[in-house]
Amino acid sequence: MTNALERHKYDVLVIGAGGAGLRAAVEARESGLRVAIICKSLFGKAHTVMAEGGAAASMGNANSNDNWKVHFRDTMRGGKFLNHFRMAELHAKESPDRIWELEMWGALFDRTKEGKISQRNFGGHEYPRLAHVGDRTGLELIRTMQQKIVALQQADKREHGDYESHIKVFSELTITEILKENGKIAGAYGYWRESGSEVLFEAPAVIIATGGVGKTFKITSNSWEGTGDGHALALKAGANLVDMEFLQFHPTGMVWPPSVRGILVTESVRGEGGILTNNKGERFMFKYIPDVFKDKYADNEEEADRWYVDQDNNRRPPELLPRDEVARAINSEVKAGRGTEHGGVFLDVSKRLSAEVIKKRLPSMWHQFYELAGVDITKEAMEVGPTCHYVMGGVEVEPDTAAAVGVPGLFAAGEVAGGMHGSNRLGGNSLSDLLVFGRRAGMGAAAYVKQTTAAPVSDATIAAAAARIEAPFARSGGENSYSLHAELQEVTHNLVGIIRTGTELKDAIEKIAEIRKRSANVAVTGGRKFNPGFHLAFDLDNMLLVAESTAKSAISREESRGGHTRDDFPGMDSAWRQHNHISSFDGNQVNVRKQTLPFMPKELFDLFEVDELKKYMTPEEIAKGGSN
Ligand code: FUM
Repeated sequence: MTNALERHKYDVLVIGAGGAGLRAAVEARESGLRVAIICKSLFGKAHTVMAEGGAAASMGNANSNDNWKVHFRDTMRGGKFLNHFRMAELHAKESPDRIWELEMWGALFDRTKEGKISQRNFGGHEYPRLAHVGDRTGLELIRTMQQKIVALQQADKREHGDYESHIKVFSELTITEILKENGKIAGAYGYWRESGSEVLFEAPAVIIATGGVGKTFKITSNSWEGTGDGHALALKAGANLVDMEFLQFHPTGMVWPPSVRGILVTESVRGEGGILTNNKGERFMFKYIPDVFKDKYADNEEEADRWYVDQDNNRRPPELLPRDEVARAINSEVKAGRGTEHGGVFLDVSKRLSAEVIKKRLPSMWHQFYELAGVDITKEAMEVGPTCHYVMGGVEVEPDTAAAVGVPGLFAAGEVAGGMHGSNRLGGNSLSDLLVFGRRAGMGAAAYVKQTTAAPVSDATIAAAAARIEAPFARSGGENSYSLHAELQEVTHNLVGIIRTGTELKDAIEKIAEIRKRSANVAVTGGRKFNPGFHLAFDLDNMLLVAESTAKSAISREESRGGHTRDDFPGMDSAWRQHNHISSFDGNQVNVRKQTLPFMPKELFDLFEVDELKKYMTPEEIAKGGSN
C-alpha cells in the first residue's frame, strides 16, 4: 500500500537556505506572501559561512573617499569587464543599505575606534571595504537572518495564531525537479532525506538560491551540499546558464593534512598583512603583477610594507591582487618546484601581528590550524594552495528582478545566479551580492505572484517526477554513484582545473559524456531511509550537467580571463570580451552558444579612463563611448 503524497501550497518556494535564500524569503514574506524555504542540509549550515572575511560595501568608514562608483569600478576590473554592468551597478549602489539593514536586524559587526562598522582590506578593493565580524562574517549573516525569520514567525503567530503557516523552513529535504505547467512555474518535487518519502510543493514562483558547484571538483572549500543542484534544476526547467567556464580557485585553502585539504584559509589573513613565500623564502607575488594592475600594486617589498603600515598609500601589496592572479601565481610556483613539502606555499601573518591581535582578528584561522594541522599561526607559517571556492557562472537573470530569462515564475539569486561577477569575483562581494540580489529576487517573485494565476500541478507531472525518484531502485547490478563521482572529480581536477588546454578540454568533454552515459545506469541498493547512495544518485546527475556546461564553455572561450586560463591562448582578447557563453539543455546534452554582452551605458562608461578601457575593449567599443 502506498502512503498518500505529502502536499504543500505556497505563494513562493525558496530552494536553498544560505544568505541569498533567507534574504529572498524575508522579502517575499514581508510583502504579504506565504513562503516555504527548502534546505537540503540543516537550517543554518550553508556555504555562506565560508565567506569569512567580510561583506564588501562602500560605506566609507575606513576611507571617506570610498563610494559606489569606486566599488563599481573595482568590481568591473576584478571581473575583467565581463560582468553584467547593471548587476555590478545595483550591487555597488545597494550594498551599504543592506549592511546597515543587517545591523538593524541584530548583526554584531566589529567596530572602529569611533564606533562605526569596521572595514578591512581585501584583494582588488581600492579601499578597506569589508564589513566584518572577526573572520566569521558569513556565520553572523546567517545567524542574523535566522533570527529575522524567527521574528517573522513570531509575528505570524500573533496575527494568524500559528508560527509556521506563513513562513516555514523544510530542513533536510532534496528537490529533484522544478515543475512547470503550460510553460510556467507550478512548483517543485522532492523527498525527505531521512525517510525518502516524497513531497509536492505547489507554488507559482520558485526562487533558486542553492549556491555553488564545488563538489564537482576534487579539492574544494565547499561542503557536501555544493553539488550544483540549482544550476542543473534551472537548466532542466528551461533556463540558461551564463559563463560557466569561470570558476574561482580561492588561492588559499589548507593543503595538509590530507583530510582537511581544501578547507578555506580566509583572504583576511592577507588583508591583515599576511605574506606569501615559496620554499626559497622568496616573496614571489612581486613577480606576478600583470600589466593591467601595474599602477595599483607595489612592485617592491619596501613600498608594499610602507603601504601595510600606512593605509592612505593606495599602492597595495601584491598578495592582495584579485584571487585569480594569486591562485595562478601559487600554481606556477608549485609547478616550478618551489612549493612546500605538501604542494603548497607558505602564508605567514606571525611576523606582522602580535599573537593577541591574530587571535582577535582571525580567531577561526587560529583555531582551525591549531586543531586540524597542529600549527600555531601566531608563531609559524601556514601551508596553503588553491581550492575550488566559487562559480562565477550561473542562471541567466534579469538584473533588476532576478527573474530567470525565459522561464516565467523562476528566479535565482546568490552564487547560483550568473553575470554579477564577470570572469572573477572579488572577495567580499559575495556576501553583499546575496543580500542585494536575495532581496531583489524576493521582490521580483512577489511582484510576479501578484499578477499571475497559479497553475495546479497535473497528475501526469507528479507521476513523472515520482518515477524519476524510483528509477535507481528499480535497477540492479548497475553503476555505483560514488565511483562515478570520484571519476568525475579526477576529470575536472586534471583537465578542467586552474590551467586548461584545448586538447585536455576535448578529452574532458568526452570523458564527462561517457560518465553521464554510465550514470543513467546507476543502481541504488537498500531502502530509502538514511541512504546516502540514493542522495548521491541525484547529486551526481546535477554535477555531470554542470561539468558538461563548464567544459563546453571552456573549450569555446579561446582566451584567458579571470577564472579561466588557457595555456594555449594565454592572453586576454578584447574581441572575446564582447561575448558571454550561454548554456542550455535540450533534454539530452548541454549546448553552448555565444551571446553579445549588453553595452555599458555612457554614465557608467565615463567612470573609467579611456586608457584603462583600452586594456579590455576593442577600439570600436571605445569609439562608441557608451550606448546612450
Ligand atoms: O576569504 C574569504 O574570507 C572568503 C570570502 C569570500 O569568498 O567572499
